[in-house]
Amino acid sequence: MTQAAFPALRLRRPRRHGWSRAMFAENVLTPADLIWPLFIAHGDEVEPIASLPGVSRWPLARIAERAKEARDAGIPCLALFPNTPRDKRSDDGREALNPDNLMCRAIRTIKDAVPDIGLLTDVALDPYTSHGHDGLVDAEGHVLNDPTKDVLVGQALVQAEAGSDIIAPSDMMDGRIGAIRGALEGGGHVDVQIMAYAAKYASAFYGPFRDAVDTRGLLKGDKKGYQMNPANAEEALREVAMDLAEGADSVMVKPGLPYLDIVRLVKQRFEVPVFAYQVSGEYAMIEHAVAAGAADRDAMVLETLMAFKRAGASGVLTYHALHAARLLGA
Ligand code: PBG
Repeated sequence: MTQAAFPALRLRRPRRHGWSRAMFAENVLTPADLIWPLFIAHGDEVEPIASLPGVSRWPLARIAERAKEARDAGIPCLALFPNTPRDKRSDDGREALNPDNLMCRAIRTIKDAVPDIGLLTDVALDPYTSHGHDGLVDAEGHVLNDPTKDVLVGQALVQAEAGSDIIAPSDMMDGRIGAIRGALEGGGHVDVQIMAYAAKYASAFYGPFRDAVDTRGLLKGDKKGYQMNPANAEEALREVAMDLAEGADSVMVKPGLPYLDIVRLVKQRFEVPVFAYQVSGEYAMIEHAVAAGAADRDAMVLETLMAFKRAGASGVLTYHALHAARLLGA
């Protein structure tokens, strides 16, 4: 690289004026980079989630309003998570296969009202099981891979039939991407995408999400037998390679900020669309810092989201999506 020396080289020179800083920006953040996760309530009331300040579960009757707000702010896609009533949860999570479950009703409600917004739907059994695991468990509480995979295929199909645009398996079973892709092709859903939660870590940052979908109190043990060890990076590349080979259109890294190195590695190695999930615990950390007077929300939200772009992410799932999109649009 050819480079002058000081004082011919003054790296501060382009930083002097706003117009110049804008011109020299290496990355941009726009509302199109954002995916907004929404929780669906099974009752008729809006239900604030205490551990996710500012986030609520929305009843079906109010969900289309949220979709319109998102679309009007330039957000291209929503991610949906149902809070299944306790009496519909079972050991085998069979409610996940009900074409009239809360998820499918939410998909249809939004697609009827706002057909031009994308819908990403989570495939995993945790909001449907009585033990809070993402799959079927044996007598020892071990999550069974292959029987779970078969149920996930059925779950993906009912979601695709209800109108999902992107199937997003977050369960970390082996082989489920190929199985789901085959079933989507066979079922005529050739244009339904798969965004694989490819590198998903067994993380301490998911606590508030588990409150939102009411699994925290149900979960027996932990998810370390299927989600990744936070110590590992090479293994993330193998996970991504496997999901791409099986037909994923895009891959996700989750959580977000503590795993930006993984976002970067995946982008450099595979040159495919990589998304990151700034998860519930990350959102809560920002909100608690703001509440404590330690940070400016707007600046912190935009800085953290830009960090994902700099690392190579094509987009970010974030509970701050609507707020950020409005800031960026203003
Ligand atoms: C479970 C799932 C989780 C999240 C998304 N899907 C939690 C978990 O694995 O226990 C977490 C998202 C968040 O914390 O915001 N299938």
